[in-house]
Amino acid sequence: MWLMTTRAARLVASLFLFVLLFASEAGAERRVESFNRDWKFVRGNSAGAEAPGFDDRAWQSVRLPHDWAIAGPYDFRENPHTGKLPWRGEGWYRKHFTVPAKDSGKRVVLDFDGVMAMPVVFVNGKRAGGWDYGYMGFRIDATELVEFGRDNVVAVHVDTSYHDSRWYPGAGIYRKVVLTLLDPVHVAKDGVFVTTPKLDAGEATVSVRTTVENFETKVHAVEIETTLLDPAGRSVARVTSPLGLPARSSFEIEQTLVVKNPVRWDIATPRLYSARTRLLTAQRPLRAALLDSTATTFGIRDFRFTADDGFHLNGRRVQLKGVCLHHDQGPLGAAFLPRAAERQLEILKDMGVNAIRTSHNPPAPEFLELTDRMGFVVWDEAFDKWDRTATLPPGRSIVEHGKKQLEAFVRRDRNHASVVTFSVGNEIWDLENGKLPNPPELLRAMVGFVKALDTTRPVTLAHAVPGSADTPLDDSLDLGGWNYQAKYQNSRKKRPSLPLVYSESGSDYSTRGFYDFPLPKRKDEYSLTLQINSYDLNSAPYSDIADVEFQRMERDKFVAGEFVWTGFDYIGEPVPFVAEGWGHFEPRKITKSEEARISSFGIIDLVGIPKDRYYIYRSHWAPEKTTIHVVPHWTFPERVGRNVPVYVYTNGDSAELFVNGKSLGKRTKNPTSENAIERYRLRWEDVTYESGNVRVVAYQGAKKLGETTVRTAGPPAKLRVTPDRTKLRTDGDDLSYVLVEAVDKAGTLCPNAMNPVKVTVSGPATIAGVGNGDPHFPAEFDGNEVALFYGKAIVIVRADEGKGGAIKVKAETAGLTTAETNLVAR
Ligand code: GAL
Repeated sequence: MWLMTTRAARLVASLFLFVLLFASEAGAERRVESFNRDWKFVRGNSAGAEAPGFDDRAWQSVRLPHDWAIAGPYDFRENPHTGKLPWRGEGWYRKHFTVPAKDSGKRVVLDFDGVMAMPVVFVNGKRAGGWDYGYMGFRIDATELVEFGRDNVVAVHVDTSYHDSRWYPGAGIYRKVVLTLLDPVHVAKDGVFVTTPKLDAGEATVSVRTTVENFETKVHAVEIETTLLDPAGRSVARVTSPLGLPARSSFEIEQTLVVKNPVRWDIATPRLYSARTRLLTAQRPLRAALLDSTATTFGIRDFRFTADDGFHLNGRRVQLKGVCLHHDQGPLGAAFLPRAAERQLEILKDMGVNAIRTSHNPPAPEFLELTDRMGFVVWDEAFDKWDRTATLPPGRSIVEHGKKQLEAFVRRDRNHASVVTFSVGNEIWDLENGKLPNPPELLRAMVGFVKALDTTRPVTLAHAVPGSADTPLDDSLDLGGWNYQAKYQNSRKKRPSLPLVYSESGSDYSTRGFYDFPLPKRKDEYSLTLQINSYDLNSAPYSDIADVEFQRMERDKFVAGEFVWTGFDYIGEPVPFVAEGWGHFEPRKITKSEEARISSFGIIDLVGIPKDRYYIYRSHWAPEKTTIHVVPHWTFPERVGRNVPVYVYTNGDSAELFVNGKSLGKRTKNPTSENAIERYRLRWEDVTYESGNVRVVAYQGAKKLGETTVRTAGPPAKLRVTPDRTKLRTDGDDLSYVLVEAVDKAGTLCPNAMNPVKVTVSGPATIAGVGNGDPHFPAEFDGNEVALFYGKAIVIVRADEGKGGAIKVKAETAGLTTAETNLVAR
């Protein structure tokens, strides 16, 4: 036996340490670089654009993420359901890049997070790959086509002709692209899968399954080291395993680690662990000892959907207070900038939201990083329709398409602590109606594609047809999602053991800032002005107002909770202001030019300004926060002496209303009323309008909660600008949302102001988009002019990449005092 002396062992150990340190310093591990800069773009087809020498000097210079259609032009003759924007058609992108000669021998891969749609990627004129679902990311291995140390050209052809959509999908390379240089022996894409098969208060058993790829023609013996870091970044468990990799192979290894006293991920305390994977080899020269390293974020938590008591997280029932979100970011279109999504989630968090449904497609990867970090649970959805109404790539069957996309989707998203269910689709009518051959088998196949890769999350489907619960359709589902009007009831009766979620509720309409009298008597009595009254009494005919949904959720505790349609207004689906076809306006015939092009479903408008409805939800969903919100504003010069009802949304249980100091009495919520509206809001229907002020004093029991006063505004005197953030990063992706308002000389908001505003940004920043929440928004989103809509508009300012400095944002309009604000980028 050969025995090492202690000294020799120490020497070997420190040598090994030296090798590791040196290796990481030498950068032998993967190199990940943003690939978003310096692209050229042209709309339409351009013969030969894949050729390296193609002259693209006349093309537009763009930085990714890029949505070509959001810049317009807006064309009122176009399809309202997709926002009347030019997203249909072809486009080309090109970019030159070099990979240093010293990297020869490395794998060169490009990860596209999302291209709308059907991208074909060429490298140096040769086809390198493509993808066939606009919402799913993909990897292009360009190794064999790249010339190291020389100029290379990547060209991407995009074609949305085969993509169909019920909303605005965007067009182009609308999510980020990353270039990664890898050793031929490396951790595969989405190749680490972390689960916690056993968890109790004292310890968590963590399983880490890692797929390693060997692209070399020789066998490799490697060591795989996994270290778990706790939320503070301290190493809490480590394991190494030897791994023999045959030539040109891919191999999965499972390692099991134990974490003592685990800290749980939860909604209020979203604590995240990280698994650091390192691949090492002893058979290489010193500098290559570290082949690859990567980090995977995960959370330790347990959850289950129960049949009788809804959703349980870490052992307690949690009511899902959720919203559905489409993927567009208002004036930015489909182009995904993480700050835009972070802002949305901040606004939703304040409202009391704890759950998001990514309707009806996989979100950008960073979206789930945000929900992990900010504490939301997520219904992660793969598809909208995949029945007859789906637009499949030519020659592709639903099952083939489903398998390919679901596998990519589950691999990508299965480490996210926030994701608690995978949905394989939304309202698949032919499946539910039995018009497709053998629906239960078809659904079972789709569910199976998910289960083959992840058995830790229930698989669900959002249903539309109650009668489908009378059939064996749902035999393979773990969780039933039902859209609207408590349609989950039939499933509850027929399949009492299947847990349930109210996957779409609400579908309420309102226009921020718009009030119309008299108030509607029915939910589907819509104003002939083609805006929707913001008294929150209107919904789609197949749905119900917020209060009715709250009442259902309080009654039906077996349901995990609701996902309101929708958190934010989105581009497209502007029902009921559509001239013909689904959802068209019924009270009278409207013309194409009268149609809207932005939905009115949002609790928050397209640019992120809360509507009145926001405060009904906040009152009920965040009862620990003080909310005292008065509907409407108090500037109706044309209604002096006439009726203007006052509604109050508060977390208190009663309130007293004063008009110009005179009490109009106290109202109290009635939590047992059969009329839902009496449970959740306070109403004074017979108020006669006089200018001055309304004051509301709210109470919780006998205790005063607080008060709010709304004043009649004088004529607009000046503009006011309020940025949501004044300090911006210079990574090229950071944003400040600047609220522009008109106020009178005392600073009171002028709620009827519609002034056109010109915006100027000076310093290292540009205007990324403008908007105002008008569902008819008749202008372009990428201009420097925007009209106020009921007193408000938003300008999105984006800091330039790599240049710090002072930024000035100026807003002007004729006749009012100009407003300015200063931001700084560093
Ligand atoms: C649902 C559908 C959603 C949206 C909504 C509008 O039936 O799932 O995508 O169209 O209606 O109310």
